[in-house]
Amino acid sequence: MNEKIKEIQAEIEAFKISSQENLEQFRIKFLGSKGIVKGLFGELKTVANEQKREMGQLLNALRKTAQDHFDNAKESMESQVDEDSKVDVSRPGDQIAVGARHPLSIVRSEIIEIFSRIGFMVSEGPEIEDDWHNFSALNFPPEHPARDMQDTFFIEKGEEEIALRTHTSSVQVRVMENEKPPIRTISPGRVYRNEAISARAHCFFHQVEGLYIDKDVSFADLKQTLMYFAKEMFGEKAQIRLRPSYFPFTEPSAEVDVSCTICNGKGCNVCKYTGWLEILGCGMVDPNVLDSSKIDSKTYSGFAFGMGVERIAQLKYRVNDLRLYSENDVRFLKQFTPEM
Ligand code: DAH
Repeated sequence: MNEKIKEIQAEIEAFKISSQENLEQFRIKFLGSKGIVKGLFGELKTVANEQKREMGQLLNALRKTAQDHFDNAKESMESQVDEDSKVDVSRPGDQIAVGARHPLSIVRSEIIEIFSRIGFMVSEGPEIEDDWHNFSALNFPPEHPARDMQDTFFIEKGEEEIALRTHTSSVQVRVMENEKPPIRTISPGRVYRNEAISARAHCFFHQVEGLYIDKDVSFADLKQTLMYFAKEMFGEKAQIRLRPSYFPFTEPSAEVDVSCTICNGKGCNVCKYTGWLEILGCGMVDPNVLDSSKIDSKTYSGFAFGMGVERIAQLKYRVNDLRLYSENDVRFLKQFTPEM
């Protein structure tokens, strides 16, 4: 029996455990209830009494060897698994594609920010608008040719006409109907016109409307506000000039140019060698418009302006094709970062 124990001892030590399967085979063979070690303990009763003690000790040692061999193998296998699943913190990370802000959204926020610094609040109105807010309340009489200035997408024609708003001036009306002067608000939003899509025209685009109503608001206030805006938006050197124009809802009306941001007014192909770029329309709110919205035009006066967001973005980023803004090409969209 002594010999046998030695043999088995050697067999245990030589047993290489390299997988979970092996490990289980080893356990069944040596440590299981029908395993070799158990069997040898069973044979103890056949051993002569005076040898029993010694054999018992040898068998206990054998069982310990088998158990240790099993435990060590198990442990090293588990730590192997850990090793494999450990994160190597020194490896370069996977790139996560970070989204960028849309250039129009950046410019829109900048415009809001600039006007909020001089006390303008933001107001919004619906994109589907009735004739009253888009036209009539803004002093466009029915059948007036000025309605043709803005090619309209009608949703319902007839008694009460419903259309996609052609400008954000409709929001002016909504604000005047709901608030009392003093009113100082800007209204950013999307507008729609029935135009063939090209580099220079689109069937939808974005505007920011401005409205200021109080006692004694003058044209000088309008001019100064726009000058402030131009300098904040395009830099300290920016200049503006006002050209007389016509809008049904303002009297007098003007179009505003800013000195060319590319050549600083010297003349280049962007400004068509005039040194100036048109950025917005504006004027003193027509008394008819105030009265339509139940604001007393004898007590109050105001100015309004409306600018195209794409136009400002074009001057800031030199994007000369309007279609790029809505094509969702990531190569285009990822180029813009807000100014800090
Ligand atoms: N609504 C005009 C347009 O879409 C822009 C505009 C001009 C708005 C003069 C105004 C304004 O508020 O006073 O062309």
